[in-house]
Amino acid sequence: MKYNIITGGSSGLGFEIAKLIVEKDENIILIGRNIKKLEKCKSELKEYQKESKIITYPLDISDEKGVYYFIDFLDKNQYNVQRLFNVAGKGFYNNFNNITKEKMIDIFNSNLFGLILITKSICDYMLRHKIKNQRIISILSTAALKGKKNESLYNSAKFGAKGFLEALRDEIKEENIELINIYPGGMKTPFWKDSNANYNFDTFMDPLDVANEIINVSFNQKIFISDITINRPKR
Ligand SMILES: NC(=O)c1ccc[n+]([C@@H]2O[C@H](COP(=O)([O-])OP(=O)(O)OC[C@H]3O[C@@H](n4cnc5c(N)ncnc54)[C@H](OP(=O)(O)O)[C@@H]3O)[C@@H](O)[C@H]2O)c1
Repeated sequence: MKYNIITGGSSGLGFEIAKLIVEKDENIILIGRNIKKLEKCKSELKEYQKESKIITYPLDISDEKGVYYFIDFLDKNQYNVQRLFNVAGKGFYNNFNNITKEKMIDIFNSNLFGLILITKSICDYMLRHKIKNQRIISILSTAALKGKKNESLYNSAKFGAKGFLEALRDEIKEENIELINIYPGGMKTPFWKDSNANYNFDTFMDPLDVANEIINVSFNQKIFISDITINRPKR
């Protein structure tokens, strides 16, 4: 059975992507650390569900052993992975003086170490269980393209993720796996909940609009868009 894996599928952009995939009647595996959030999402997704399967899998993507068990779970169930959506991530908006080693580990775990661990493991799985048209779609950020005041730690994690994904794309260029990197600007999601950022959030994008574009580039097999920046319109 073919599956779409969505890390960070229990909130914000990842949840909107999940809704659109379930509406297409395709199977999904939703990943996040909080089981209660995952179960709530699963019950909300029933509204969009036809015949497809919705599996929730609690996992911290930066936990190496946990990722290993997840791969074992896929292997045992003989699930084919058609697409991996790397959506999990975490923000940190603060002055450079407030960066601590603990904060660095926290932000790097979700945005960089975890992304590398799950991507390398799923990529290996895809190579072992080859099916047609496999894709890895990664949500980076415009913060992966340009450094910005008070975002230095987040910028460095996203720049690192971009570097890893571009190198991996080159390393597996002879294989039948396409890597799509997405660079969105600000979106209205819980991502900003505890931040003290003084942006005008009214101008931020609706995550559903962004998810629609991501689904278009991810599911259209007639073209391969390798990189896409999605910006807020100028008002
Ligand atoms: N919102 C924006 O303005 C914006 C702009 C550009 C790019 N982005 C990027 O877009 C992606 C989605 O962000 P969002 O706005 O939808 O944020 P969000 O609503 O806060 O959702 C983040 C998701 O990631 C999961 N997550 C975080 N760390 C994880 C880990 N270590 N292991 C597994 N799951 C983890 C969270 O679930 P748990 O906490 O339960 O684990 C949650 O489901 C992120 O990569 C973010 O960097 C966001």
